[in-house]
Amino acid sequence: MTAGFDLSQTDRLLTTTRSVRRRLDLTRPVEREVVLDCLRIALQAPSGGNSQPWRWLVVDDPAVRARLAELYRRSHDPYLAASRAAAQQAGRTGVDRILDSSQHLSDHLHEVPVLVVPCALQRLPQDASVFDTAGLYGSIVPAVWNFMLALRSRGLGSAYTTLHLNYEREAAEVLGIPETVTQVAMIPVAWYTGDGFRPARRRPVEQVVYLNRWRHKPGP
Ligand SMILES: Cc1cc2nc3c(=O)[nH]c(=O)nc-3n(C[C@H](O)[C@H](O)[C@H](O)COP(=O)(O)O)c2cc1C
Repeated sequence: MTAGFDLSQTDRLLTTTRSVRRRLDLTRPVEREVVLDCLRIALQAPSGGNSQPWRWLVVDDPAVRARLAELYRRSHDPYLAASRAAAQQAGRTGVDRILDSSQHLSDHLHEVPVLVVPCALQRLPQDASVFDTAGLYGSIVPAVWNFMLALRSRGLGSAYTTLHLNYEREAAEVLGIPETVTQVAMIPVAWYTGDGFRPARRRPVEQVVYLNRWRHKPGP
């Protein structure tokens, strides 16, 4: 135990919270209360000036989910076809599994019991500064990730998705979202089947960390 935490548990949570697409249980209902519990935890995340500039749309109405899923598919399917073609052309192997999993989610999105759309209570101008952009996304993405961690630790899977945002306006009409608000993502939520999640392969820390100055690597 360190600082009162069981690191084997917290590190497992942090290293095995994966995008769940294939192993979403599409038949088991997700109670609203468990989603609200996870959102309560999510809201502990930081936001600029503690402004908490967010609203969270929890969509469990099958007709509304179907309309959002249709928008997602409209964006996803051409994108995926292009990604598959690019991977084949570049001779990249190992991407088929990810692309198949992505297709699976797209095909079944309307069946996922809950879709959560985190919204920022602000819109950026076309020429928004880096500072303003960082403020908007930085004030909501930590809470989205907290939400996904809280789901995972309760046996619920999710995935951070953004593809429906190519049709953000259409989704806003479906959901009655005002023009002053920015949709940030769409998080499909379902119980997962089988807990075999593992740490993913990532670039080693030595390759991505610089010390004190750009390109200066920490020594051994
Ligand atoms: C900003 C962002 C946008 C993403 N958009 C999508 C998406 O639209 N659809 C999808 O299936 N996954 C999406 N993902 C999930 C990534 O593909 C996934 O996190 C990545 O492949 C690593 O896999 P892992 O989450 O299982 O570790 C997105 C992730 C991020 C952070």
